[in-house]
Amino acid sequence: MTAASPLRVHAPTRTASARRYVLCRPDHFEVTYAINPWMDPAAPVDRARALAQWEILRATLEAHGHTVETVPGEPGLPDMVFAANSAIVIGGHALSARFAHPERAAEGPAFHRWFAARELRALAAASEINEGEGDFAFAGQRILAGVGFRCSLSAHAEVERYFDVPVVSLELVDPRFYHLDTALMVLDDATVAYYPAAFSQAAREVLTALYPDAILADDNDALCFGLNGLSDGEHVFLDPGATGLIAQLRARGFVPVPLDLSELRKGGGGVKCCVLELHTRRDATVGRPDQVGSSVSTR
Ligand code: ARG
Repeated sequence: MTAASPLRVHAPTRTASARRYVLCRPDHFEVTYAINPWMDPAAPVDRARALAQWEILRATLEAHGHTVETVPGEPGLPDMVFAANSAIVIGGHALSARFAHPERAAEGPAFHRWFAARELRALAAASEINEGEGDFAFAGQRILAGVGFRCSLSAHAEVERYFDVPVVSLELVDPRFYHLDTALMVLDDATVAYYPAAFSQAAREVLTALYPDAILADDNDALCFGLNGLSDGEHVFLDPGATGLIAQLRARGFVPVPLDLSELRKGGGGVKCCVLELHTRRDATVGRPDQVGSSVSTR
């Protein structure tokens, strides 16, 4: 028997778990204002194409065994399709969003009403500016959180208190990557992929210390919103243009599933922005979900 060549390292086997996702059909999607550098109200948007791409997203998630629920979009709220921004939901506890820009402000109560009609253990509306999973990524033992463009450290403190899960603050420095989910993707509780240039030096140091084996994305991966992807532990749904990232994911045992949402990118969002995950609490040793936010509030 010969010793295994160090060049033939086997990728670990990944395991998918069935997830629950919330999406919002882009029936009212358009670009009528610009609140991030990707949005150009002068550029035409093909809503039929956006809808077709979104339908493929929904069908693909369902075909992989995931449950998809949809929130109806509302006229005059063209960004509602970006359902990731609606809330943070972990273990049946939901904190609905409070948007930074007046153009999206009415989405907060609209999504809140939808959550209020569901069976949740707890629901509250954020009192700090908080765009849901746009800036907060649940990673099992901790929540990674972006700061700098859309939310503040006081929003991080509110989330930490509400869910009783440690929040790790990461400063974003490039306006093109204005939400954490445009620059970092959680692949499983131990693995993340991110674009280092989107983060401050201090945030990079934190990420290196927490995730020494992280996958690092390059400029091309980041610019086509490859990091705005979604992992079920095995399959990673992401933009097909993120070729470097796709190769790295494969080498690490993940199964990339390409999804083209280029029409929605005109609003500054990709796959992840369109999807809110209703997370189950995976680490029973952290947090005391029964003891926080136990009342359902409506507004
Ligand atoms: N036009 C939206 C905004 O700027 C896009 C939001 C994208 N969502 C996300 N989770 N990154 O607010």
